[in-house]
Amino acid sequence: MTTQDTARGSHLLEVKDLRVHFDVGQRVVKAVDGVSWSIDEGETLAIVGESGSGKSVSAMTILGLVPTPPARIPGGRVFFRGRSLLDMSENEQRQLRGRDIAMIFQDPLTALNPVFRIGDQIAEMVRQHQQVSRAAARRRALDLLGEVGIPNPTQRIDQYPHEFSGGMRQRVMIAMALANDPKVLLADEPTTALDVTVQRQIMALLGRLQEERNTAIVLITHDLGLVASHADRVSVMYAGRVVETGTCRDIFHQPRHAYTLGLLTSLPRLDRRTQERLAPIPGAPPNLALVPPGCPFHPRCSLATPSCEDDRPDLMRVGADDHHAACLHTDRVHALATGRIGA
Ligand SMILES: Nc1ncnc2c1ncn2[C@@H]1O[C@H](COP(=O)(O)OP(=O)(O)OP(=O)(O)O)[C@@H](O)[C@H]1O
Ligand SMILES: [Mg+2]
Repeated sequence: MTTQDTARGSHLLEVKDLRVHFDVGQRVVKAVDGVSWSIDEGETLAIVGESGSGKSVSAMTILGLVPTPPARIPGGRVFFRGRSLLDMSENEQRQLRGRDIAMIFQDPLTALNPVFRIGDQIAEMVRQHQQVSRAAARRRALDLLGEVGIPNPTQRIDQYPHEFSGGMRQRVMIAMALANDPKVLLADEPTTALDVTVQRQIMALLGRLQEERNTAIVLITHDLGLVASHADRVSVMYAGRVVETGTCRDIFHQPRHAYTLGLLTSLPRLDRRTQERLAPIPGAPPNLALVPPGCPFHPRCSLATPSCEDDRPDLMRVGADDHHAACLHTDRVHALATGRIGA
């Protein structure tokens, strides 16, 4: 690897120390406050964390979809195949969006225009990036609708978004995201609003497409069950930062950050009759304009000691090469997680 490779990123998509702040009145909401991750072809990276931890803002910033103002990007770089995305012109970003990197949005209604027919919206996505006739784009839209499992695509293609159920709109959004065979798919809560059966079908569809096309998938989700069954690696976010990152195995079996352990122990257990959470993490994530000094998790952490209130811990290597955690008590977390001491 040359120095230039390192500087420009040597992965398919690389986010380096990204910061996205919003000025709200006198306060600064640090929605994303130094996030780094990377992904390669064919991989699935899960980004998990409670509501408001900066998952969507970081993903949307990659695509130039967070308006500045109100946002500011006081630091950070994003590289796609060595090209720096944040310095690109609006036009270059638009060309890249949907073609190289596509996004499935958390809310399908924000991605679909209510006044245009479903088929026209997908065809338009195709024609934005490919020089094809209207008829060819319509055929592609029809194929895509079939591919994402919309029944009777020939009738459905001329309907409007309000004629589709939530699950079907989600599939349409996936069809639009896949329309130009992107290399990277940013899937922001792709199945959260859906019932379990549709959720399974959609995840199976993404898995199949990934296998066929070697797509890299960034899976943003609250659902650790989904992560366990689909991700290769996981980045856990808290208060605008990644606090732990590692392989799926590391994160689920050898967590090293107290927050990760809290997320895992609050998982509903499938082997129990009730779905209630075992031990929810007490309290709530901080307001991102008022993040406490030191480790931002310390007010909620049962392992916190006075030193946790001093400096914000950096990500440090723990165990395996690519396993990192930003916690002063990684050993105690490890001991708790592996059952060597009682909770
Ligand atoms: N336009 C905005 N102005 C001010 N603050 C904003 C704006 N957009 C987002 N934020 C703040 O940025 C923070 C991160 O939001 P983000 O949507 O990335 O969270 P998230 O991790 O995706 O949460 P969820 O799991 O609920 O989707 C939140 O505190 C949110 O209030
Ligand atoms: Mg979100």
